[in-house]
Amino acid sequence: MPPFQHHIFFCTNERSADDPKGSCVQRGATALHAHAKEACFKAGLKGAVRVNKAGCLDTCAQGPAAVVYGEKDLPSGVWYALNTKEDVDDVIQQHLIGGNVVERLRMKLKG
Ligand code: FES
Repeated sequence: MPPFQHHIFFCTNERSADDPKGSCVQRGATALHAHAKEACFKAGLKGAVRVNKAGCLDTCAQGPAAVVYGEKDLPSGVWYALNTKEDVDDVIQQHLIGGNVVERLRMKLKG
């Protein structure tokens, strides 16, 4: 049995301000990651959900990027664009607790 039911990885990559690609940190990823850690703890998910930082997930143009891996989400995971704390809360409540993908926040991935 895996140690966690879900992992959620937040891109916390930061590029220089003059880089035209921008980065998730420039779009608020640091605060969103911190909010996810606190919200998961408050929801009693310690030990069940691991909230991690990741480098660039190569989906920079779609906003602050996060990917959830859980037994039902393998092998490719569920990729989200999370722009607000409310978006993070919806993923925690609906996906990590409820087991349902939040389609409105799902990224459009190539191939
Ligand atoms: S900088 Fe976050 S996905 Fe590339």
